[in-house]
Amino acid sequence: MTLYVATHNAHKLEEIRGILPGFSIVADDPDGVEETAPDFAGNALIKVRAIASRHKGAWCMADDSGLEVAALGGAPGVRSARYAGEPTDTKANNALLLKNLEGVENRKANFTCAIALAAPDGTEHVVEGKCFGAISASPSGSHGFGYDPLFVPDGYDKSFAELGPDVKNAISHRSRALAEAKKTIEAVARPGRDA
Ligand code: IMP
Repeated sequence: MTLYVATHNAHKLEEIRGILPGFSIVADDPDGVEETAPDFAGNALIKVRAIASRHKGAWCMADDSGLEVAALGGAPGVRSARYAGEPTDTKANNALLLKNLEGVENRKANFTCAIALAAPDGTEHVVEGKCFGAISASPSGSHGFGYDPLFVPDGYDKSFAELGPDVKNAISHRSRALAEAKKTIEAVARPGRDA
């Protein structure tokens, strides 16, 4: 079975292939689509609709994710990639986050990943995965991307960027959302099973 995925991010494609080995994963990036929704689920739906229109009768998937910091009212949220402005500048994003948390005691944060699925029968499904943790005082580690050097997941004393891909992929928002997406696909493909 083919699953069209709205990304060209090689890291994401690899992770999806690992979790959904029964599918032939094909990238189809919806270039130029504006992510204008106020939440991750809405943006994932915008992206999956953009590719589902070209692959009628097939499974399509899109994801949208970001970091939510409790003391900042959920920011950077859907603006995670461009928190410090456009074009995306990861170092500037991380520096701005630390600046905005200067003197703030509550460092609680979570990553959220929403995955939107368009099924061959035309139905749409949205699932989410979250990973909770805290923002450290300074960046550390060299693995991963984005806010990984600042995010220390609950139960660990190292950042995602220090922990590396094996630990991250076992507990990340994206792997949790992908596990939920897998359940949804199985339930829709085989009605009668529990989701
Ligand atoms: P995307 O929707 O997955 O492309 O993520 C949007 C932005 O959220 C990224 O550019 C990162 O700034 C941030 N982000 C999402 N997932 C992660 C992650 O696993 N680690 C670090 N940053 C992330």
